[in-house]
Amino acid sequence: MNMYDIILKKRQGQTLDREEIDYFVTGFTQGDIPDYQASAFMMALFFQKMNKEETVYLTEAMMNSGDILDLSEIKGIKVDKHSTGGVGDTTTLVLGPMVAAAGAPVAKMSGRGLGHTGGTIDKLESFPGFSVEMTKEEFIQHVNDIQLAVSAQTGDLAPADKKLYALRDVTATVDNMSLIAGSIMSKKLAAGADAIVLDVKTGSGAFMKELDDSFALAKTMVDIGNGMGRDTIAVISNMDQPLGRAVGNSLEVKEAIETLQGKGPEDLYELCLSLGTQMLILAKIAQDEGEARERLQEVIHNGLALKKFKEFITRQGGNSQLVDNPQLLPTAKNIIELKATQNGYVQHIEADEVGMSALELGAGRQTKESILDLSVGIELIKKVGDEIQIGETIAKIHSNEEKKAQKAMERLLKAYIFSQEKIAPPRLIYGIVT
Ligand code: URA
Ligand code: CA
Repeated sequence: MNMYDIILKKRQGQTLDREEIDYFVTGFTQGDIPDYQASAFMMALFFQKMNKEETVYLTEAMMNSGDILDLSEIKGIKVDKHSTGGVGDTTTLVLGPMVAAAGAPVAKMSGRGLGHTGGTIDKLESFPGFSVEMTKEEFIQHVNDIQLAVSAQTGDLAPADKKLYALRDVTATVDNMSLIAGSIMSKKLAAGADAIVLDVKTGSGAFMKELDDSFALAKTMVDIGNGMGRDTIAVISNMDQPLGRAVGNSLEVKEAIETLQGKGPEDLYELCLSLGTQMLILAKIAQDEGEARERLQEVIHNGLALKKFKEFITRQGGNSQLVDNPQLLPTAKNIIELKATQNGYVQHIEADEVGMSALELGAGRQTKESILDLSVGIELIKKVGDEIQIGETIAKIHSNEEKKAQKAMERLLKAYIFSQEKIAPPRLIYGIVT
């Protein structure tokens, strides 16, 4: 077997067998197959696509490329949640404490990664002292004690994906259904969850811009998960505009706290309820959607979810007093307001442009070495469907540097599209795939 023949076979649109896919994943991970062959192979896959069996082989090979975490010492059914990625997606910070407070163990392995804003770990580091460094034993202990822990990746999970994702990112081969499904599911399966809830985003700020493609991606991942013996469900949710109002690390932490207090943005809260409902059902904490939803609403209203969040921050070394005093979280020096110059309605907010605007401010990483400014970001005061009047504030830019703020402002202006006609607020959940 050699890589040339495998590339050619795929280029010609033929189906690869398990041995050929294993050969590529193993060889590439070990450094025996060079980047130029892997790049050509990714492009061949992009155009010729993989069928269902090939996608399963790819996922399994990537899952088996590194450690497979055994979390069986954690009591209860561990349900992991994963989003396919969006702008200003603060759900993990809200969902973790909600679901834990409702009684299901949440053992979250998270990353920093590249992106418009930092990952969950970066956001949590808005709390001075907060640490995600822990041994596997400590991780298990935390979850058994308080039902919730967020750890940096322990061990070497799916190294094939790490390497392949970096290559796809610079060769315009990210947005292929099989490659995304394999990438996400190999990591989830290696991370030891018993069950998985996927938040598959659809719209301008998502990898999958079309609804049909989002459903197909969801179905592919759900079938892979179920096929590997893990109960898997996907929720298809809107990423045509950013979720919630805050895009930026400490701003999103503040938003998460408000949501846990029951006064956060409607869409963020609703998405957390929808995802949390599926998590509680898979964890066998609730029998049906009605019961699950009620439990989640209850832990918001009686303050238990917020209490859980504080307990979790304290347990991982952070100062949880900041939860009650969020003004002490990292705060930017300047707030610049973007004002409406016409009357009308917000028709659309291009999620990617808002993300790029936050990135300009320093909220996210452009390269692995970038240092984040946790205090900066964007607050969307007006969202799709809202009425606006001349002079009203549409959005706020939180910044520390004049020049960056100007660039961010230019991008943010491009992100907003207005209309004279009344617009219905967009749908948030498009469906559930089982
Ligand atoms: N998220 C991932 O982890 N991998 C992809 O390929 C796309 C989104
Ligand atoms: Ca948000």
